[in-house]
Amino acid sequence: MSRPARRRDAARTVAFTVLREIWGNGAYANLELARQRKGLSPADAAFATELVSGTCRALGSYDLVIARAAGRALKSLQPAVVDVLRLGTHQLLAMRVPTHAAISATVDLAALEIGERVAGLVNAILRRVAERDWPGWLELLSDGTDEVGRLALTTHHPRWVVDAWSQVLPGHELLQALAADNVAPAPCLVVRPGLAERAELGGTPTRWSPFGAHRDGDPSAVAAVREGRAGVQDEGSQLVALALARASAPAGAWLDLCAGPGGKSALLAGLARQAGERLVASELQPHRARLVAGSLRAYPGPNRPVTVVADGTLPAWREGAFSRVLADVPCTGLGALRRRPESRWRRKPTDLPGLVALQSELLAAAIYSVQPGGIVAYVTCSPHPAETVEVVAGATGVQLLSAPEHLPEVPDAASGDFVQLWPHRHGTDAMFLALLRRNG
Ligand SMILES: C[S@@+](CC[C@H](N)C(=O)[O-])C[C@H]1O[C@@H](n2cnc3c(N)ncnc32)[C@H](O)[C@@H]1O
Repeated sequence: MSRPARRRDAARTVAFTVLREIWGNGAYANLELARQRKGLSPADAAFATELVSGTCRALGSYDLVIARAAGRALKSLQPAVVDVLRLGTHQLLAMRVPTHAAISATVDLAALEIGERVAGLVNAILRRVAERDWPGWLELLSDGTDEVGRLALTTHHPRWVVDAWSQVLPGHELLQALAADNVAPAPCLVVRPGLAERAELGGTPTRWSPFGAHRDGDPSAVAAVREGRAGVQDEGSQLVALALARASAPAGAWLDLCAGPGGKSALLAGLARQAGERLVASELQPHRARLVAGSLRAYPGPNRPVTVVADGTLPAWREGAFSRVLADVPCTGLGALRRRPESRWRRKPTDLPGLVALQSELLAAAIYSVQPGGIVAYVTCSPHPAETVEVVAGATGVQLLSAPEHLPEVPDAASGDFVQLWPHRHGTDAMFLALLRRNG
């Protein structure tokens, strides 16, 4: 009997190619999607985006479903077949694609992109997946697990992340906090102070930052963004930069120690300029330093902000050269899971020791770089205690200031003397801020 002709579906083909790049070659979902969906119609681009984002977010849960349905470990399957099955599972368990369409389109995709020989296997496994809906699978998979395990499955998070969140959040907020990671935020724009007015951004003003606005659609449709007088930045990042600018400190130049790609530098440069000071933006990676320079391009001279390529752990300037230093250190990024759907499954607890050592070195270098009486803002885009309070606890030669007192308009942001923002409370990334004054 001859089989029906295979049908190529543009959106699913793009979604598969993007998934292969993410899980085969380490690509970032958002960047790869933006690149690959260019030729698609708006409807196909939206479908491909949902396929990739949704599949990446729930990947760990879907892998458990697929392994059960296949009756074998995923590593015994070809990686490309696993990616096809993940796409099919998302359509079956989380999208409104009718079962027969989800299965036949995914089998066609597998046959065309991988080979006719895998079509039967993909068909058989997806039929098993389709025997239950997501609540049914959740029931089956969480049989015998504890509360944390069930929460991890329900909200599609790895268990170690749920464990970390439960150390820093009251129990009754946990579910809400984890669920908030599964909702992509509306894009947030920010002006470069002194170069643009917030009204130029359109959209809805940010709740607390005086510089931002939430606005759907392509940011480059805004003239101020195209001209470098505004940019894209989460409100949480705007707030931590504002807190550093508000702290009382001696006169002198400001330093952004880990500046790439330059979002906070661009805001700080305007605030420094309004205070009559200059910003030096330093970044280790030359390609990221170029992005920083791009984000600062609209500031006119004299006193233009300066971009340098330098290893922040080996300061290339004299001790105490700056009055304010931002140490927005490399971190797990677990506070920005809303915007990076794949990263919760890519990050591992084994990443922590190396990052924590680097964060401690960078904080020590930031303290070395600031003059006595000057301010260091230690910032992470992660609420994980190992990267936040535990790193700050190791700092010497400084006095801890009350960071929440520098953002009095933001409710529920205080965690002792630290600021900890949360997507479910503030609609921002989960930014952490400590303000430290160097001893005299
Ligand atoms: C969290 S990101 C900074 C984000 C940036 N502040 C912004 O708002 O756009 C951390 C940056 O630190 C850089 N970095 C990593 N190791 C560094 C080092 N030893 N010295 C300076 N920068 C470093 C990374 O390349 C990355 O660009």
